[in-house]
Amino acid sequence: MPRFDAVLFDLDGVLADTAHIHFAAWRRLAEELGIHLEPTFEEKLKGVDRMTSLDLILAQGGPDGPVQRTVEERRVLADRKNGYYQAAIAEQTPDDLLPGARRVLEEVRAAGLKTSLASASHNAPPLLDQLGIRPLIDAIANPAAVKAPKPAPDLFLEAARLVGVPPERCLGVEDAVAGIASIKDAGMVAVGIGDPTVLTRADYVVPAIANFYISDFF
Ligand code: BG6
Ligand code: MG
Repeated sequence: MPRFDAVLFDLDGVLADTAHIHFAAWRRLAEELGIHLEPTFEEKLKGVDRMTSLDLILAQGGPDGPVQRTVEERRVLADRKNGYYQAAIAEQTPDDLLPGARRVLEEVRAAGLKTSLASASHNAPPLLDQLGIRPLIDAIANPAAVKAPKPAPDLFLEAARLVGVPPERCLGVEDAVAGIASIKDAGMVAVGIGDPTVLTRADYVVPAIANFYISDFF
């Protein structure tokens, strides 16, 4: 008997190599505002929704301290970042899937488990189409439909609800510290993709999705 009935996947940095594309777009915007982001800042932004990411960047600020912007100005800045991101992912094709991503989705399905997406990104649905994996995903949780973003458990709970599986029968797969917190606080088992010294709350950590085999969880 498999220990799980569903696998809930994050997208950016788990199935698609888009985490660094998000960060490159933020860095470009930040530079335009006179804010320098160290490479280490990327970890803080992973899994974090668009407006909160902008707030973290403005709060770090530049040489003169935090950068203040009105609500309307922040909305314009967030839209600008999204424009940079969308232009950068416009040409994504199935070749841009992370190695092993399609195999994992196919094996999870073949084992009789549901697949559900728990991505904070509003760009996830079109990206799934571009990557050619939408038919392998049973449900997509809409980040606009939940109360609180990651690290709150809401989005993973919604992804589980959509496939009708209770949290304790769900395995969540995430590359972000915020995402692992979301999975654990939802009462699920967490597989981290990345560095175990960073993803300290994960139950298991593998370096990449290519190292994930659902048969290890039977
Ligand atoms: C997450 C990314 O998947 O989605 C974050 O890890 C990003 O970097 C967030 O900010 C929201 O994405 P979007 O496309 O709605 O701005
Ligand atoms: Mg991610």
